[in-house]
Amino acid sequence: MERKKIIIGNWKMYKNIDETKDFLNGFNKLIKNKNIKCDYGIAASFTNLSLLKIDKSSALLIVAQNCHYQNEGAYTGEISIKMLKDMAVSHVIIGHSERRMYFNEVDETINKKLQSLFNANMVPILCCGETLVQYENKETNNVIKKQIKLALANIKAENIAKLVIAYEPIWAIGTGKTATAQQAQTVCKMIREFISELYNKNIAEQVRIQYGGSVKPDNIKLILAEPDIDGALVGGASLMPQSFFDLLI
Ligand code: 13P
Repeated sequence: MERKKIIIGNWKMYKNIDETKDFLNGFNKLIKNKNIKCDYGIAASFTNLSLLKIDKSSALLIVAQNCHYQNEGAYTGEISIKMLKDMAVSHVIIGHSERRMYFNEVDETINKKLQSLFNANMVPILCCGETLVQYENKETNNVIKKQIKLALANIKAENIAKLVIAYEPIWAIGTGKTATAQQAQTVCKMIREFISELYNKNIAEQVRIQYGGSVKPDNIKLILAEPDIDGALVGGASLMPQSFFDLLI
């Protein structure tokens, strides 16, 4: 089946308000009257999210980089899904390897966040990926299956079709070392087969699977040409208007 490609820029902890405004000025000029077929969006810091809602006709998806799973409460420094909804956020990145690595995010909390996002009718972008050591030890498939199985525990089948999964090998993030399109395809296909095992083939065919890790304008075409890769999650190359625009199809 034909799945619409989805390309998301993950700005991580980059850009203040002025820098975000500069980006949007440049990007809006480039995108004007262009026929972009894919879904595209920016995952900005919380302080910049409200700037991304340009006007009602804007197709730019507003994406958050994290959320808490509780509606509200005494959780200093956290942000709720309700707060994100106020800023027109529709998608939330969950379980990015940087959150797993530096902020002790574990599969059980990732699962709770997914449950809460689906309950709120939001789309999670669930990240998974192996370290260099795991890759070299040929543990990629096992590591990723475990991450996905735990993240999706008790998630109802009806929610899975709209899920986005981002396969990001940690050894390819910000290193300039991209997985080859073929390597990325092999893992994305394995993920789709695993979703089929956990749910069914029909649902697996609908899930969109992105690749992330040193995606650039000059390598994205080969990556997106693979049958099981439905988009990209892009860090560095999404920070400048021209290079983000050049990623879109
Ligand atoms: P880079 O594109 O900078 O390698 O970052 C990838 C990433 O972590 C996107 O979430």
